[in-house]
Amino acid sequence: MERTLAIIKPDAVSKKNAGKIIDMIEENGFNIVRMQKLTMAEDHGKAFYAVHKERPFFGELVEFISSGPVVVMALEKDGAIKAWRDLMGATNPAEAADGTIRKLYAESIGKNAVHGSDAPETAAQEIRFFFHDL
Ligand code: CMP
Repeated sequence: MERTLAIIKPDAVSKKNAGKIIDMIEENGFNIVRMQKLTMAEDHGKAFYAVHKERPFFGELVEFISSGPVVVMALEKDGAIKAWRDLMGATNPAEAADGTIRKLYAESIGKNAVHGSDAPETAAQEIRFFFHDL
C-alpha cells in the first residue's frame, strides 16, 4: 500500500466543495488514513512550498494556500501517488480531463482546488510535514 498527501485548497473549501471531493476520494477506493481541517500560517505555507521558492508565482502561491482553511489528508491505496494525481487532473484546469476534480472544481492554475504529492520521496516528506506520527 502506497501513501500520498492530499490537500483540498482554500478555493474549494470556501466554495463548500470539500465534501464532494472527499466523496470522490472514497468512491475511487482510497483509504483516508488521517484528515485534518486547518489554516496554514504564511510561514507554514512557505515551508511547505519551499521547493518552488525561486518561481515567479511563489508569493502568490504562499498567500493563497494560507488565505483560509484547507483539508489535509494522508491517502492510502495501491499506487496512491499516481492514482491521486490522475483523479486530480492536470495542474491547469483548462487542460484537465473530464471527470477530474480540477475540471469540475478548479478555477485557475493557482486556485486549482487540490494538491497531491508528485513522487514517493515528496509524499513521505509532505505526509510527515502535517502528520508527525506517520
Ligand atoms: P500544486 O500541485 O499545489 O503545487 C504547486 C502549485 O503551484 C500548483 O499546484 C499550482 O497551483 C501553482 N502554480 C503552478 N504554476 C503556476 C502559475 N503559473 N501561476 C500560479 N500558480 C501556479
